[in-house]
Amino acid sequence: MAELAIFGGPKVRSNPFPQYKTIGDEEKRAVMDVMDSGVLSGFLGAWSSDFLGGERVKKLECEWTEHFKVAHAVSVNSATSGLNVAVGALGVGPGDEVLVSPYTMSASAACVLVYNAIPVFVDILPDTFCLDPEAVRRAITPRTKAIVVVDLFGHPFEADQIMQIAREHGLKVIEDAAQAYGASYHGRPAGTLADIGIFSLNVHKTIQCGEGGICVTNDPELADRMRLIRNHAEVVVKDMGIKNIVNMIGFNYRMCEIEAAIASEQLKKVDDLAAVRVENADYLTQRLRLFPGITPPSLKPGLKHGYYGYPVRYDAKVVGINRDLFVAALRAEGVPAKSGYVEPIYLQPLYQQRIAYGTKGCPFTCSFNKDIKVSYAKGLCPVAERMQDEELIGGAAVHKGVLKSDLDDIVNAYEKVLGAVPLLAEHQAKISKTG
Ligand SMILES: Cc1ncc(COP(=O)(O)O)c(C=O)c1O
Repeated sequence: MAELAIFGGPKVRSNPFPQYKTIGDEEKRAVMDVMDSGVLSGFLGAWSSDFLGGERVKKLECEWTEHFKVAHAVSVNSATSGLNVAVGALGVGPGDEVLVSPYTMSASAACVLVYNAIPVFVDILPDTFCLDPEAVRRAITPRTKAIVVVDLFGHPFEADQIMQIAREHGLKVIEDAAQAYGASYHGRPAGTLADIGIFSLNVHKTIQCGEGGICVTNDPELADRMRLIRNHAEVVVKDMGIKNIVNMIGFNYRMCEIEAAIASEQLKKVDDLAAVRVENADYLTQRLRLFPGITPPSLKPGLKHGYYGYPVRYDAKVVGINRDLFVAALRAEGVPAKSGYVEPIYLQPLYQQRIAYGTKGCPFTCSFNKDIKVSYAKGLCPVAERMQDEELIGGAAVHKGVLKSDLDDIVNAYEKVLGAVPLLAEHQAKISKTG
């Protein structure tokens, strides 16, 4: 076996991995049509026929409802805006607790703070990276109002159990499906498994329009409230005769016509793009699962993964060296690999210092929240912390454009590094002696 690249040997791969490209002539033509029309946004922040957006925005929303078999789709300018809109629509406010995953993009939790409520972080399951239903059950208090679940890396959350718990306690559930295109749960698409689902159309996602998001729901009242919050609600509630004005401060979360036109074209491609990810992920899994100490993503029967990410779990005791050294050795071989995903959210300065609004610690110190005893201490969610600090290897690319030969390079790099563990273990011992 050749010497490891981390020690100066030849790399398994020296050319970069293929980039993800989904924008073609269809999107270019769609953009030019909008440009030719001269109207780049069809929204008006006043009660009128333009309150609900332009032609292409409405068309996209209609296509989204058909594709995902859901009653209402409300487009917004990002999934972050979508999460805010969803929390607002549910009537969450000061004095409320909202259960959230600590292992996700920060917006899945920050949306709770936007409405002056308190995020309560609940641990995840090690095999899916999604919220642990039993931990959810234990975290519910009389103040709990809602749950934000995340289909992390494209694995659908434990929908039956969590929706059952939510119904028992009268809680609403928001499904952050930003990463979950192509995923499904017993035949139902991810994003449609809870009271409100949120998709992202940012540049990194399976489909994109630059920046954008879509909220979906089967509840007509929630859909109306989300449309209001998206577009300056406070201006129109009087004219529209809206009685429930809770959380009716509106924003400009509107999607413009160019983004909607691109998103419509991307939606036509989403099934094919998701299928490539599954095919590539399955190919990788068949090979990586043969290596001791390496656990590729697994799925329960009836579930489909979207493989936005391809999370591998690493067992340092079985392999014999720590994960970060293993990842450094893989990267040196020229294949994509990353230690962990993101720091559990509660370890961010915002939660550690409890400063969100102004200098007085609001909303944590607000009189409606002062009796909420929430912990953001290290150790709060041991599974999420262990995944981040010790077990998760992310970064493997399975998107369209990645060929079997690229995936073979990943497998070959794993094999090469695993074959040289005794040398790496010596290296690790030396480093730890010298500090
Ligand atoms: C799980 C999750 N939620 C929310 C978001 C926010 O999406 P956007 O960039 O569209 O606001 C992201 C984006 O990376 C995400 O991965």
